[in-house]
Amino acid sequence: MKTLISTVFALTLMSGASYAETIKVGVVGPFSGPFALQGKNFKAGIDAFFALNGKKVGDNEIEVVYRDVPTADPAKSKAMSQELIVREKVQYLAGYYFTPDAMAAAPMLQQGNVPMVVMNAATSAIVNASPYVVRTSFTTWQTATPLAKVAKDGGVTKTITLVSDYGPGADAETAFKTAFEKEGGQVVESIRMPLSTTDFAPLMQRIKDSGAQALFTFLPSGPPTLAFVKAYNDTGLKAAGIKFFATGDLTQESDLPALGEAGLGLTTSFHYAVSHDSAENKAFVEAAQKAIGNPAELSFPAVGAFDGMHVIAKMIEATGGKQDAAKAVEAVKGLSWTSPRGPVTIDPTSRHITQNIYLRSVEKGADGKYFNKEIQTFEKQGDPGLAFAKK
Ligand code: PHB
Repeated sequence: MKTLISTVFALTLMSGASYAETIKVGVVGPFSGPFALQGKNFKAGIDAFFALNGKKVGDNEIEVVYRDVPTADPAKSKAMSQELIVREKVQYLAGYYFTPDAMAAAPMLQQGNVPMVVMNAATSAIVNASPYVVRTSFTTWQTATPLAKVAKDGGVTKTITLVSDYGPGADAETAFKTAFEKEGGQVVESIRMPLSTTDFAPLMQRIKDSGAQALFTFLPSGPPTLAFVKAYNDTGLKAAGIKFFATGDLTQESDLPALGEAGLGLTTSFHYAVSHDSAENKAFVEAAQKAIGNPAELSFPAVGAFDGMHVIAKMIEATGGKQDAAKAVEAVKGLSWTSPRGPVTIDPTSRHITQNIYLRSVEKGADGKYFNKEIQTFEKQGDPGLAFAKK
């Protein structure tokens, strides 16, 4: 009898309006292996969001379920994402460091009734893979385009491009070349490097032989970027005066201590620098550094994740915690807020983030630490890659 009464009582409570649900968010990223630090930054950004905003949205409490996909591995990402939807019953998918991992999961979103908030993967076409994709990171089109004018204005007329041979690399190459040629510059050679490349010395020789005054490069942040910049320094290219232009992936803050003097003066363009001077960023950096443990490990995936959680919280608010992917995505179209990186908006048409892109140079602070110093702002940049793809 007692059991029956308590069961009835529990059921009554469950049907009541005040019943608080746990909303599960599945986050896919590299949490082990060579890119583990990038995944750790996803988690630090998410934890920083909870530290500053709490875990509750209305009556609903957010629970994050992490799944490890150590590198670009579409089959594994698909399996993990499917498991999150079907078994874990997540209402939201998020994370996705590598483009192929986001692309592999996108076709499941509509049937699963699950929005995907991309916190890093940077190929323009990802938002076209499903109407349920929203992105809070950047695209390589967005970051590379303003840099071409900077190079040309700095007197460079001949450049060689070197990019990782997959989505964001191909986009970066096309973006830089398109903008540089528009400025009257010439790309003398374009090299695509396999994602597995670890020895960059032979490529440095090709740069020397090309007759270019400068190089433009994109690689995914992690061990490849550190090795590339080291090779640029160690093989004498830097000393020979071959200028370096890259997206900010190449000088992420967590790589700067290992680069040391070799990083000094490197010119990059990006959506976020840990040194960004604003009240919002100060609060974010403090919370995210606490979350990550070692402050020197903080890097850009944390801000994509922090803002991604902001978007997910808005989606939960708009749907009252009910699973309704279409309504959730609709609710964040046109959403504007002040991110730690500066003012941002989710473009209502593309569902990609409009944001400032900053020109930066690696400098050494009075405290002896290396940092990306913002020196110029290109305001309110959309994604030129989407318009280009339609042409
Ligand atoms: C990507 O795979 O889209 C990607 C990964 C790492 C980056 C940028 C883009 O730094």
